[in-house]
Amino acid sequence: MQPFTAHLPDESATAALGAALARALHPGLVIYLHGDLGAGKTALTRALIQAAGHRGTVKSPTYTLSEPYRVEVAGAPVNIIHYDLYRMASPEEFLDAGFREDFDGKNICIVEWPEKGEPVLPPPDLRVLLSVSGLGRDVELQALSQSGLLCLDHLAYPPS
Ligand SMILES: Nc1ncnc2c1ncn2[C@@H]1O[C@H](COP(=O)(O)OP(=O)(O)OP(=O)(O)O)[C@@H](O)[C@H]1O
Ligand SMILES: [Mg+2]
Repeated sequence: MQPFTAHLPDESATAALGAALARALHPGLVIYLHGDLGAGKTALTRALIQAAGHRGTVKSPTYTLSEPYRVEVAGAPVNIIHYDLYRMASPEEFLDAGFREDFDGKNICIVEWPEKGEPVLPPPDLRVLLSVSGLGRDVELQALSQSGLLCLDHLAYPPS
């Protein structure tokens, strides 16, 4: 399958893509988010988690490195765990925190700055590449497994 690409002219477009992704999710999915500081990784994740039913705020887990949310996907309860590994000092920190056990085929794991998690971070099903383009953002979604393909297959963006 070809990667999915789109231009996101403003933050509401990022939010709409996050909501579309929330509807295309299934348990166990691992999503890597790539892009420079301010590319919109947290903005996209926030929209996704809130569209999946989380009512409170979604803050960047800059210092905690990870933040779990209990939501419903396709009517069943599931954890979405949001990571920001930017400030992680070493791969041992990832292992010592028990993060690897989170990647259990049930939790949905969304990872900002996955580059910092190499080589101990489990592989992704989906890669999201965000980059600044004019006043907006360009986005590319790449499926890297059958699970990722299933998600891209169900993605309805822009919403009709
Ligand atoms: N499509 C868009 N067009 C223009 N601005 C956008 C768009 N999507 C998000 N933004 C803005 O870009 C900024 C993105 O910040 P965000 O914290 O999401 O970046 P990040 O990729 O998570 O950065 P970091 O690596 O520091 O965690 C926010 O100010 C948000 O309002
Ligand atoms: Mg961020």
